[in-house]
Amino acid sequence: MRKTTLSKLKKLYREGEKIAAMTAYDASFAYWVSDAGMDVILVGDSLGMVVQGHDTTLPVSLDEMVYHTKMVQRGNQQAWCIADLPFMADATVDKALEASARLMKEAGANMVKLEGGRRVLPIVEALSDLGIPVCGHLGLLPQSVEKYGYQIKGKDRNSADRLLEEALALQEAGMEMLVLECVPGKLAADITRQLSIPVIGIGSGQQVSGQVLVLHDVLGLTVGKTPKFSKNFLQETASVQAAINAYVAAVKNGSFPDASHEVG
Ligand code: KIV
Repeated sequence: MRKTTLSKLKKLYREGEKIAAMTAYDASFAYWVSDAGMDVILVGDSLGMVVQGHDTTLPVSLDEMVYHTKMVQRGNQQAWCIADLPFMADATVDKALEASARLMKEAGANMVKLEGGRRVLPIVEALSDLGIPVCGHLGLLPQSVEKYGYQIKGKDRNSADRLLEEALALQEAGMEMLVLECVPGKLAADITRQLSIPVIGIGSGQQVSGQVLVLHDVLGLTVGKTPKFSKNFLQETASVQAAINAYVAAVKNGSFPDASHEVG
């Protein structure tokens, strides 16, 4: 399989083909996720919860993100690899530049992802000016969970307007892709229509450019409650490989998510 590039992702987006994304945190899972034809592998700081057993993503360090991204890139055959900037690695522009350099040069990530709106605009601009592809993350922000909790954003007019305004400003600053987490489906559709870059949803309905899920949710490995927006694909299939294949197919043919996964 040819390696997925940013221009290939942009082509999928322009042609209206849904982008399939999933997290992975080590080489073996990255191999199978990539083998299924996944367009994007996200080395998410969700690893703090599903791999390390923390209650939140906050304890994840930059060294740990570098370590996991390196492993993923050894197993990944073709997918575009996004690595999360962990909590506080983007506290200043300089810190974000150094952290992104490590994720790309040392670990081999193709793109970095960071959470937030107005606060991160100078960081997105600086990264983008240096030729580093940036993925934004708006809506539910797991790194701000101690302040805001796991609440759905964009439910009232003011917060919906603010989300749209932040998405447009991030795009203007150079963001190439956006993850929207737990945003009402109608708002996610509106943001997707108004942007000219791919919007990848998680718990944000169907009218977006693609979907991302946490690997452990897809395989029913998550300890405790699985989010309503997620789906255990292993329940309907006979192997890990078949479950990951089924996820890619369901995203591509639009059968996942459906109304039962709505959270807004
Ligand atoms: O860390 C992560 O896995 C993420 C996804 C939930 C989008 O950011």
